[in-house]
Amino acid sequence: MSITRLLTFENIVDQRGSLIVLEALKNIPFEVRRIYYMTNLSSDNARGFHAHKDLTQVAICLNGYCRFVLDNGSNREEIILNAPDQGLLITSMIWREMYDFSTDCVLLVLANQYYDESDYIRNYNQFLQEVNNGKN
Ligand code: TYD
Repeated sequence: MSITRLLTFENIVDQRGSLIVLEALKNIPFEVRRIYYMTNLSSDNARGFHAHKDLTQVAICLNGYCRFVLDNGSNREEIILNAPDQGLLITSMIWREMYDFSTDCVLLVLANQYYDESDYIRNYNQFLQEVNNGKN
């Protein structure tokens, strides 16, 4: 089964521009408790390099592009996000790395929980151990 789960949002386009609506428990498959966004990104500085024990997120590249690597401990997949009507659904226990940000990249993330540093796994070997323990 693919690790990469892409949501496609309706894009309401007319001569004035484009409008995309995100609604909790409708086109976003959870109650949104937190929203954050990243700007001033650079192609030289990758981000991420962690998994979450118990967090679900949707990442949307509002402008520009960037690449995501997703890793479930067995397989690695890579995807480019380059359209504001695409949302990348990242569930718990998925290692993610983001890189190759365009200079105009704006990356929005919706999350189903408040920020909690204790939910992070920032060590790849620890991630592999925990993900494999979960399988036994
Ligand atoms: P981090 O999640 O490590 O960023 P990325 O995965 O994009 O590289 O977060 C960077 C810093 O920001 C880190 O010190 C934690 C802090 N932070 C918060 O305080 N609240 C938040 O909601 C998030 C996402 C990060």
